[in-house]
Amino acid sequence: MLSVGIDLGTSRSAISSSNGEQFVVDSFVGWPADLVARKVLQKDLLVGRDALDNRTMLELHRPLERGLLKEGSDRDVEAARELLRHLLSLVGAKGNKAQPVRAVVGVPAAALRTNKQYLRTALKGVVDSLMIVSEPFAVAYGLNALLHTMIIDIGAGTTDFVVMKGRYPTEDDQRSLTIAGDSIDTYLQKLIQAKYPDAGFTIFMVREWKEKHSFVGEPTDRVVVTVPMSGVPTQIDITDEMRAACESIVAPIVETMLDLLPHVEPEFQERVRKNIILAGGGGLIRNLGPTLERALEKVGGGKIRVIEAPVFCGSDGGLALAKDAQDSDWDRLVN
Ligand SMILES: Nc1ncnc2c1ncn2[C@@H]1O[C@H](COP(=O)(O)OP(=O)(O)OP(=O)(O)O)[C@@H](O)[C@H]1O
Ligand SMILES: [Mg+2]
Repeated sequence: MLSVGIDLGTSRSAISSSNGEQFVVDSFVGWPADLVARKVLQKDLLVGRDALDNRTMLELHRPLERGLLKEGSDRDVEAARELLRHLLSLVGAKGNKAQPVRAVVGVPAAALRTNKQYLRTALKGVVDSLMIVSEPFAVAYGLNALLHTMIIDIGAGTTDFVVMKGRYPTEDDQRSLTIAGDSIDTYLQKLIQAKYPDAGFTIFMVREWKEKHSFVGEPTDRVVVTVPMSGVPTQIDITDEMRAACESIVAPIVETMLDLLPHVEPEFQERVRKNIILAGGGGLIRNLGPTLERALEKVGGGKIRVIEAPVFCGSDGGLALAKDAQDSDWDRLVN
């Protein structure tokens, strides 16, 4: 029996396995666009970074968008399934009778609500037993932050909130916003385009700049990047744009945080405020933790801890859950 925890993310997906292996891949799946592409690539399917790097030759799919599994075409179902298959193959999961696989899959909270059945279909024949949980809950479980804590998971497609009260969270304990990494990227792209109309760049470059230079509040350094301007590599200053784009998520996050707190029993509210955990790639935006802490001052103050290495946080939590789960907790996928 192999147990795995999988964090199925909009931009990155991670797997942690009971055999000690863990991997992370970009959540992209691509099929060669035509005969030429197939000849150049010498492959029928590309997953992860490989797919992203060769995207011009591919019909590229991103199985999750804005935190939801796309249910449009068969190709979208296949893309989700291939991504999961790929992750399992990386940890050496065979998924045959000799070595059944039990998987806890963490998905954005919105996908858990609307795509659960669809996910089960995508995983049929790939794993034997399945448990689908919301991603912030998996993070909470992995950190053993199960009582009087709030997890804020700032991903690419969604920012998910959960208040842990020592039991499975209910709908009331969770919130999901579509302002997150992707919305910052789109906004940043728009701002840079407006300021430098002749600069040539893609959303992928914008994302890289953000991951390197993101910040909120006063800048400590200027953010300068190089782009082709009418074909000539040119340095441009994007400090103000970076700040504005990153700060665009602050107000909605504060609002949601303050909206969740009154739902906590009055005598526990202070403990929750002092136990807020910022997870996900977006939690790494410089100075975001202190900025949110400042916003908590008007409701009595709080403490925010940033998870500095968030990549395997969700998948490790899923694995911990898989290890602790009892037979009756599993959803058996009989083929
Ligand atoms: N240092 C950084 N500063 C700002 N943003 C970052 C940084 N590192 C990563 N990100 C952003 O975090 C997001 C990815 O985070 P994460 O891997 O937690 O998301 P995900 O799980 O794929 O998405 P979701 O949870 O929405 O499905 C991306 O938008 C990425 O650009
Ligand atoms: Mg995530």
